[in-house]
Parts: sequence; structure tokens; C-alpha cells
Amino acid sequence: MQGLSIKPSTKLQLSSLLVAVATVMLVLLAGVAHGGGRRLVVSSSEDEPCKKMTVYYHDILYNGNNTGNATAAARTNGTFGLLVVFDNLVTEEQALSSELVARAQGFYFYDKEEDNAWFAFSLVFNSTAYRGTLNLIGPDLIAEKTRDLSVVGGTGDFFMARGVATLRTDSFEGLYYFRLQMDIKLYECYV
Ligand SMILES: *[C@@H]1O[C@H](CO)[C@@H](O)[C@H](O)[C@H]1NC(C)=O
Ligand SMILES: *[C@@H]1O[C@H](CO)[C@@H](O)[C@H](O)[C@H]1NC(C)=O
Ligand SMILES: *[C@@H]1O[C@H](CO)[C@@H](O)[C@H](O)[C@H]1NC(C)=O
Ligand SMILES: *[C@@H]1O[C@H](CO)[C@@H](O)[C@H](O)[C@H]1NC(C)=O
Repeated sequence: MQGLSIKPSTKLQLSSLLVAVATVMLVLLAGVAHGGGRRLVVSSSEDEPCKKMTVYYHDILYNGNNTGNATAAARTNGTFGLLVVFDNLVTEEQALSSELVARAQGFYFYDKEEDNAWFAFSLVFNSTAYRGTLNLIGPDLIAEKTRDLSVVGGTGDFFMARGVATLRTDSFEGLYYFRLQMDIKLYECYV
């Protein structure tokens, strides 16, 4: 009698185990479908980023008479604390007229004297090559030949990306235009 009473409960346990396994598999499948099946690739060496690109950032500051071309504007007075908000062009080559890669949307402010700024912005990609964002922050010690910003995250084609963007001042024309070369290296990519 005891043996008979055990069997149904074992069956019950087995069937609930099967339901549980099936549920886990469905959840996993749904997860794969939702994430597009991408997998995290973490670079194992500083010399081998999982993705890299070189692009050019153009800062065209509003000077009172260049409304048609300006993509950045100062929102405060003075040098210390000067805040510049921008929607700048980022191109493939040095020339402003070369192919648009992304828009750089964000701000910088001068947090020391003229040679020390702090950046926070998104590279917004919307082309056939890439769609999504990379988000960059960090100090820009302008007197240094190169400066590194952290790539702290991304979306779309750059889902959960992390890395470093090295800035180099490529051109500085008066108070109202400068161009930065940005070498972006990602060390965590979903591919
Ligand atoms: C525009 O403004 C800048 C800065 O004030 C000045 O140097 C330049 O001569 C002006 N250009 C014209 C066409 O007014
Ligand atoms: C915009 O830039 C072009 C090319 O540098 C220049 O010829 C033009 O005068 C500028 N327009 C304004 C409104 O500043
Ligand atoms: C900067 O200061 C000048 C003079 O006080 C003022 O006319 C101007 O509106 C100020 N600009 C900003 C962006 O605060
Ligand atoms: C992205 O590009 C598409 C196709 O060119 C366009 O329809 C869309 O408005 C763009 N989106 C943004 C946010 O610029």
C-alpha cells in the first residue's frame, strides 16, 4: 500500500520538473530572441579591442552671427564654469563635408581655467552602418597631447559597450571652431 501511494507523487514531481524545464527553455529562447542572439565578447588584451573606429568631432560654437552653421552654444558667462551645449557633427574624415558618422549630443564645461574641461555626451549613430548610441564622459585636459574619455555604455548596435575614446586636438581655429580626432576602442562588445 505504501509503495502505491508513493508512485503518484513521484509522477507528480516528474511532471512538474518537466514543466519547470520547459518553462526555463522557453524563457531562455525568449531571451535569445529579444537580445537578437548577441553574445558578450570581452577583449583579453589592451591591444585587441573588440571594435575600433577613428572619427572627427567638429565643435562650431555660436559667435553671434553664424546661426546657420553653429552646432554648439555657450550657456553661461566667464571662463570658469563656462558651459557649452552641443549637437555637433562627427565625420569619417577630417573635412566637415566628409561622410557623417554620428551626432555628438551633450555638453562640456570649463572646470578649471581654459585648459581643463569636462565632457559628457552621446554619439548618436543613425546610418546604414550603425544605429544606436555610445555614451562618453570624462575630463578633457586640453593642454595634454591626448586625453582619454571613458565609454561607459551604449545602445542598439553598441548594446552594453564599454571602452575608451582617446581625443587629440586636430585643429583649433580661433575661439569658435575646434576639431578633435577620436580614437574609439571598445573592450566589451555584444556581437
Ligand atoms: C562674426 O563674428 C565673429 C566673432 O564676433 C567676427 O570675428 C566675424 O568677423 C563676424 N563675421 C561677420 C561676417 O560678421
Ligand atoms: C557657414 O560655413 C560656410 C563654410 O565655412 C561659410 O561659407 C558660411 O559663410 C557660413 N555661414 C554662416 C551663416 O556662418
Ligand atoms: C553674459 O553677460 C553679459 C553682460 O553682463 C550679458 O549681456 C549676457 O546676456 C550674458 N550671457 C549669458 C549667456 O549669460
Ligand atoms: C534615422 O534615419 C532614418 C532614415 O534616414 C530617419 O527616417 C530617422 O528620422 C532618423 N532618426 C533620427 C533620430 O534622426
